[in-house]
Amino acid sequence: ARLLVDASQGRLIPETLFGIFFEEINHAGAGGLWAELVSNRGFEAGGQNIPSNIDPWAIIGNDSSLIVSTDRSSCFERNKVALRMEVLCDSQGTNICPVGGVGVYNPGYWGMGIKQGKTYKVVFYIRSLGSVNILVSLTSSNGLQTLATSNIIASASDVSNWTRVETLLEAKETNPNARLQLTTSRKGVIWFDQVSAMPLDTYKGHGFRNVLFQMLADLKPRFLRFPGGCFVEGEWLRNAFRWKASVGPWENRAGHFGDVWMYWTDDGLGYFEFLQVGISHTDEVDTSAVLPFVQEALDGIEFARGDANSTWGSVRAAMGHPDPFDLRYVAVGNEDCPKKNYRGNYLKFYDAIKRAYPDIGIISNCDGSSSPLDHKADFYDFHIYTSANDMFSKTHKFDHTSRTGPKAFVSEYAVTGNDAGTGSLLAALAEGGFLIGLEKNSDVVAMASYAPLFVNANDRRWKPDAIVFNSAQLYGTPSYWVQQFFRESSGATLLNATLLTNSSSSIVASAISWEDSENAKSYLRIKANMILQVVNLGSSSVNLKVSVDGLGPNSIKLSGSTKTQLTSTNLKDENSFMEPNKVVPSLTLLENAAKDMDVVISPYSFTSF
Ligand code: AHR
Repeated sequence: ARLLVDASQGRLIPETLFGIFFEEINHAGAGGLWAELVSNRGFEAGGQNIPSNIDPWAIIGNDSSLIVSTDRSSCFERNKVALRMEVLCDSQGTNICPVGGVGVYNPGYWGMGIKQGKTYKVVFYIRSLGSVNILVSLTSSNGLQTLATSNIIASASDVSNWTRVETLLEAKETNPNARLQLTTSRKGVIWFDQVSAMPLDTYKGHGFRNVLFQMLADLKPRFLRFPGGCFVEGEWLRNAFRWKASVGPWENRAGHFGDVWMYWTDDGLGYFEFLQVGISHTDEVDTSAVLPFVQEALDGIEFARGDANSTWGSVRAAMGHPDPFDLRYVAVGNEDCPKKNYRGNYLKFYDAIKRAYPDIGIISNCDGSSSPLDHKADFYDFHIYTSANDMFSKTHKFDHTSRTGPKAFVSEYAVTGNDAGTGSLLAALAEGGFLIGLEKNSDVVAMASYAPLFVNANDRRWKPDAIVFNSAQLYGTPSYWVQQFFRESSGATLLNATLLTNSSSSIVASAISWEDSENAKSYLRIKANMILQVVNLGSSSVNLKVSVDGLGPNSIKLSGSTKTQLTSTNLKDENSFMEPNKVVPSLTLLENAAKDMDVVISPYSFTSF
């Protein structure tokens, strides 16, 4: 096969071509990226009615030592449920409390990942009829080993009204399966509400779990699509994500049950937190009644972009961010194009948003890749979940799309089903082929993001996913690593590259160049880079004869040129907690780098050089 590259000609790839799509699915946020360790911190997950289900909180003690119940006495207006703990035993007298006391514990999301030497901030609210002596501790899953502890002592007058308690716990041991305990050996009645435990050290102090956030940062994403996906609208509208309920002080957020992916979220990771880093399934709102929803969207945009004196901008400012966020696009709905009321409702959103914010790009749910949209839009959303062969062939999907009109936002793509398992090399290679096609068609494709991004291995609601984690471990699937090959693409120049091959179905290639400013501190060095990306989905290696024309005499540094390859022994190979690096890119020197060179492309590989 031959690859002819003309480096003197090219076209700019959009600055925002490759980004990420974050959805609250698979515990991506609650029990994932959001570093909160306590699950159901406000005791509302069982519903607003009492008695409520406090799961996963559990009781330490028995009927003769304490009675745990819920009532609606919380000081937080939006979430009135509080935990009531009536302690029947004492440190002296006839009913002596067991060693360590009685109380409640929270195991977090399948165990809390506690690390030796790290500090955890525990905050909660209490009220009591008498004085209190509470032991706050991080322990092993059975409560027998104490990892960190703190004693909260307060007089009756200090806690007769709801009182905020904050304490720091430094872990003296590592345990991936820890729990938070609130215990006492003093008789009396104590109410608890809004119990939070978070590592002090989160990404930029914004509350994100460092290692997971770093995986995202390493992709150098140019945009973030959020919060869904199906999560945003819910199976039923009553369970949709309501942004207004997810901003302001965390203690006053009611949380909600995500009825598509079927789990509770405390909404600690809310609209504001998303910004620090865009109809429901079953019921439809009639177009004649949609205006309140349009107003809610306008308020949401004002929250992100309004100045600090505007109604909703001032709420953002009060949360510590007076400057507006860079919100540029709004998608109306998610996969809703076939719905009866979609077009009517969409146009109401479109007109109102454009009137107030003419620069915001509006994204329609209808597919404009094959025929023009029948309504106004700046972008159209395109989702694809398919087999490996089909995904690979979709490298040509946008070749014949009209070059005028709204551009595509490929906001969800992935190989699924048997080809993918929980994240195979095969899936990643096919996606790599598709992404090369997007790069080449980036005059009509404006943005692209893989889906879903995260999965907590304890609760897979969807497979495969890009990043797999539990309370203490994580790894990228091959699909994650393929995305890393496109880190330099956004804003680069797509060079004219012609692939001449008689096995065109199994190999695709592209060439880009970009400028990289480094060491800006003392001087500015501009270096021209060029990258050739090749996917070989065939079963034999290909000798690729590469010829690069149009390079200035000194514009290519041949010595030290490298080749990065993603491959493995078996197409269905996957990474795992046991073998997190089984399928990861490997870097070698490109020995014979030259304007004309032969490069061996291994079978079943993604290669860049
Ligand atoms: O990415 C998983 C789901 O797939 C998204 O929530 C939805 O948009 C699509 O159906």
